[in-house]
Amino acid sequence: MRKIEIFDTTLRDGEQSPGVSLTQEEKLEIARQLARLGVNIIEAGFAASSKGDFESVQRIANEVRGVSICSLARSTEKDIDQAYQALKGAEHPRIHVFLATSPIHMQHKLRMTPEQVLEQAEFAVKLARKYVPDVEFSAEDAGRSDLDFLVKVAEVAAKWGASVFNIPDTVGYLTPDEYGQIFKYIRDHASGADKLKLSAHCHDDLGMAVANSLAAILAGADQIEGAINGIGERAGNAAIEEVVLALATRPTIYQATTSLDLSQIARTSRLVSKLTGMVVQPNKAIVGANAFAHESGIHQDGMLKEKSTYEIIRPETVGMADTKLVLGKHSGRHAFKDHIASLGYDLDGEALNTVFRKFKDLCDKKKYVTDEDILSLLLEYE
Ligand code: KIV
Ligand code: ZN
Repeated sequence: MRKIEIFDTTLRDGEQSPGVSLTQEEKLEIARQLARLGVNIIEAGFAASSKGDFESVQRIANEVRGVSICSLARSTEKDIDQAYQALKGAEHPRIHVFLATSPIHMQHKLRMTPEQVLEQAEFAVKLARKYVPDVEFSAEDAGRSDLDFLVKVAEVAAKWGASVFNIPDTVGYLTPDEYGQIFKYIRDHASGADKLKLSAHCHDDLGMAVANSLAAILAGADQIEGAINGIGERAGNAAIEEVVLALATRPTIYQATTSLDLSQIARTSRLVSKLTGMVVQPNKAIVGANAFAHESGIHQDGMLKEKSTYEIIRPETVGMADTKLVLGKHSGRHAFKDHIASLGYDLDGEALNTVFRKFKDLCDKKKYVTDEDILSLLLEYE
């Protein structure tokens, strides 16, 4: 089994979710929980972006131990210097420099030629390496970059001592096949690529961030970047909990593991949701309120006989409360009998049929049937 490093950017790209702004205390609380979860790298912020971000990165760097702490920096002297000043108290500091490499970004945003981009990348990696041994270089918008140019950028990163070359699908444009091919191409064509860890950073604009991250793992990626609950710029980043559970659930496919303590996933998800104010949709994989809830009678019957009939992950594996058999209009007699037994009523035969029929009638009239509603149907059986 290969070990995949998990780079968490909940506090940087995740905080770029429109409407989210975390205080220093909140960021520290999340960083502590991420360390408990066992991520390998915490991107604590973008030190040069504001005084508040600088202080948050600095505090996390000084106070959170046992994990690499990272700050994002543009490929400029000022940004790299600020990143280092904020990170210098960290046990394992990482400076993450980025520069766009796609024709669209180079021409319209940077207004730089490809040659100038290569020079700037060299400058940034060299400077960051003067400060810290662990430098990550991101080729922003790699997904829409020319592959042979990307090879040249990776060679510059390797030559000047970057440890990680990140290949972001910045605008969530690629399909899993296309994304995986980039990793193979860089490995096969960039000289010095064997010295680099290759990293995936996927956005979810077409709903493919997790699938693309997994394709990158199959193509040899060493590090996956993502955010808890998949929060982040626009449609968000790859949801870390989904990537990690795919690896844990399908080991023969991915042949890869992570250092995460899976039982901390639900707690981390709840904390991030509470502090960012970003609600987790009920049907969200792994951490949604319905991820382990079964309503259909056929499913409930299967679950009561053997849980693996309809569950591929046990809720306790990720620290969620136990499976919920939700009583509703699709529920069957078996689950209903089981539920009223948990309320203290042991009915069979005609009595059970009568109450079950009344329960189904009620389900057609009410969106949510509560235990109080069910107890009122059982009054005559006291
Ligand atoms: O999406 C992106 O390209 C980024 C980089 C700064 C890594 O977030
Ligand atoms: Zn991003």
